[in-house]
Amino acid sequence: MNEIRIFSPATVANVSCGFDVLGFCLDNIGDEMVIRKTSKKGIHITKIEGYELPFEAEKNVAGVSALALIEDAQPDCGFEIEIYKHIKPGSGVGSSSASAVGSVFGINELLGKPYNKTELTNFAMKGEALASQSEHADNIAPAIFGGFTLVKTVSPLEIIQLPTPHNLVAVIIHPQIEIKTADARALLPKEIPLQDAITQWSNVGSLIHALHTSDYELLSKSLIDVVVEPYRSQLIPHFQSVRAAALNHGALGCGISGSGPSIFSLCHGEAVAQKVVEAITNIYAKTDIPFEIYKSEINTEGIKIL
Ligand code: HSE
Repeated sequence: MNEIRIFSPATVANVSCGFDVLGFCLDNIGDEMVIRKTSKKGIHITKIEGYELPFEAEKNVAGVSALALIEDAQPDCGFEIEIYKHIKPGSGVGSSSASAVGSVFGINELLGKPYNKTELTNFAMKGEALASQSEHADNIAPAIFGGFTLVKTVSPLEIIQLPTPHNLVAVIIHPQIEIKTADARALLPKEIPLQDAITQWSNVGSLIHALHTSDYELLSKSLIDVVVEPYRSQLIPHFQSVRAAALNHGALGCGISGSGPSIFSLCHGEAVAQKVVEAITNIYAKTDIPFEIYKSEINTEGIKIL
C-alpha cells in the first residue's frame, strides 16, 4: 500500500467537568486526508483545501506530528500529505487534533502499523502543542481510540477507553467566531478554591460511573463544570441562553466544547436531540452571528481508512 485516504474525526474535549482529561469522538464531522509514500525523504504537505494553513511541515500541526513519528521510525521513504479541511480551525471541536492525528495514523498504516494507539497519541500531541502551546491529549485520544476517553496521565502517556452508553446523541452549535485555544487557556486561574475542586472531581467520578452503568440521570447530574466554564463562557455569546434552552428541551447536559466557541449538548436519543437542535437554532437565528449546527452519534471507532 502506497497511498491511503482517511477520515479524521472532530472531537469534544473536556466534556464539562473533565478539563484536559475527558473527550469523546464525533461521527459525521471531520477532515479527510490523503497520505502517500514517496521516494523523497521527509514530510511534504502538497495540498490544503478548506482553510488557509501553512504548507511548511514545521509550521503545520499535521507536519509536526508526522515529523515526530518519522524521527522515531527513520523510514527509508518520505510522505506527502494532502489535507481536505472541513473542521474550521479555532472552532472548539478538535480541528488541530484531527490534522495531527490524521498524518500519524496514515503514516503508521503505510509503514505496516509499527506503533500502537497510545504511541500515535504521543506523536500527535507534538502537533497539538504547536497549535495550543500545550501538550494535552483530550481531543487526540478520542480521535484515535473512538468513543469516550480519559487521559490518565500525559507523562508517561496513559489513555483509558470508557464505554459509550447506547443511543447517546451529541448536538454541536458552532458560532462562527474564533477562539484560540492558547488564549482560552491563558484566561484560566492557576489555582482554584478547594470547594470547587471537590465538586469537580466528584462530577468526574460520577460521570465515569454513569458511562459504565449507562445511568443517564447520573450522567446528566455530572455534566457540570465549576472550574473552567465560568471563565470561558464569557467569550461565547449567548452561552447561558443556549445552555438553558438545551436543558429545558431535554438535553442531559450542555457545556463548552473544548476551548470553544462551539457548545455541545448530550442527549438521550435522536428525538430529544432534534428538539435541542431546534431550540438552540431559535436562539442563534435571532442574532447576527452566523452559526452551524450539527447532530452526531458518538463515533466509537475513531479515525478510519476510507
Ligand atoms: N482541554 C483543552 C482546553 C481542549 O480546554 O484547553 C482544547 O484543545
